[in-house]
Amino acid sequence: MSISNVTSPVQLRAEEGPGQPVPTPELEELYRGFERELLVPLWTEIGDLMPLHPQSKARPHLWRWRHLLELADRAGQLVPVGRGGERRAIALANPGLGGKPYATPTLWAAIQYLMPGEDAPEHRHTQNAFRFVVEGEGVWTVVGRDPVPMNRGDFLPQAGWNWHAHHNATDRPMAWIDGLDIPFQYANESQFFEFGRDAISDAEKTTPQRSRSQRLWGHPGLRPVSQPGPRQGSPLLAYRWADTDAALTDQLELDHEGFPGVVEPGHAAVRYTNPSDAGDVLPTIRTEMHRVARGTQTTPTREVGSSVYQVFDGSGVVSVGDSSWSVTRGDLFVVPSWHSLSVKSEAGGSDSDSGALDLFRFSDAPVFEKLGLHRVETTA
Ligand SMILES: [Fe+2]
Repeated sequence: MSISNVTSPVQLRAEEGPGQPVPTPELEELYRGFERELLVPLWTEIGDLMPLHPQSKARPHLWRWRHLLELADRAGQLVPVGRGGERRAIALANPGLGGKPYATPTLWAAIQYLMPGEDAPEHRHTQNAFRFVVEGEGVWTVVGRDPVPMNRGDFLPQAGWNWHAHHNATDRPMAWIDGLDIPFQYANESQFFEFGRDAISDAEKTTPQRSRSQRLWGHPGLRPVSQPGPRQGSPLLAYRWADTDAALTDQLELDHEGFPGVVEPGHAAVRYTNPSDAGDVLPTIRTEMHRVARGTQTTPTREVGSSVYQVFDGSGVVSVGDSSWSVTRGDLFVVPSWHSLSVKSEAGGSDSDSGALDLFRFSDAPVFEKLGLHRVETTA
C-alpha cells in the first residue's frame, strides 16, 4: 500500500537486456513496489540519463526565410498586436522537440513582424532577449524609454527585466528575428513577467538615429567614467552593422597580409561583447557574426550546447551532423549539441555585400561555460 494518494506515473518492465537483471515474477513484484512508492532504479534508465556523450533530442533543421516572411506577412493581415498576445512573433519549432516553440532545448528563435504604424505594448520579463535585423528598417524598439533604431545588420541585445516596446514609424511592414532563453528558463522555472504601459508616449516615438545608450556606451574602447563596475547584460542596446562589417573586413585583410586575426584561413569572426565587462552581451546567450570568404570551407567542429544561425548575406552549403543544405540570405538553421558543423561559402559577388558568406550565430555557450560543462572539438 502506497503512503501517497498520487496515481503513480512510474511504469517499469522487467526485460532481458545487457546490464539488466533476469526477469522473474519476483523482479516484476519488486518493480510494482517501485511503482507504488514512486521510485525508479538507475539500471533501467542509465543509457538515457548518462549517455557517453550528449544525445540531443533536437534535430538539425533548416527554415527558409522566404517561407517565414510569407507566413509572417499573412499573420500581419490576420492577427492584431496588442495586450495579451503581446507580440506578433512566430517561433521556430524544432522537429525533435514535440511541437514546442523551441528552436533548441534552451533557445527560442522567432520571426517578429510589425505592420505600418503599429505599436507592440510595453512589458518586461526575466528572459534575456535580442533582436537581429536581416533586412528592412523603420521600427524603433524602446528599451527603458530609450528609442533605439533597427536597421539591416544591427544587433540589439536586451537583458532580462528591462521594459521594452516596439513602434513602427514607417508606412512599410518590418520583420526581424528575436532570440530568447525562453526554453532554458521554462525548464528551470525561473520566469517572471510584468505588463507595462498600454501605450508609449509621443516623446518615445521620436526616431533618433542614435539611442542614448549608443551615445554613452557605443565608442570603441572608451568607457564612461561615471559608469563603473560590471553590468548584468550589455548596457549598449545596439551594435551597428557598419562596425561589425568593418571588423570582419579588417580580419580578412590581416589574414591576406599574413597577420593573425582570423579563426582559421578565410574565416573571420567577431563576438558581440558587453562593454562593462568584455564578457558575453547576455548572461545566457552568446552572439557572433562569422564571415567565410568565397570558396572557403570551415573546419568541422562540434561543441556542447546548441546554436541557431541566420544567413545574413551570401550563399553556400551548410553541413550539420548528417544533414546538408544549400542556404541563402535569411535562412535559419539549428546546430544541436555535439553535432558537427561545417560551412562552405559559395557567395557570388552579385548576391553579397562582402562577396562572402556572413552568418549570424547565437548559442547557449555562456551557460555551459559558467558551469564548467563547455567542450569544443574539431572533427576533421
Ligand atoms: Fe518581450
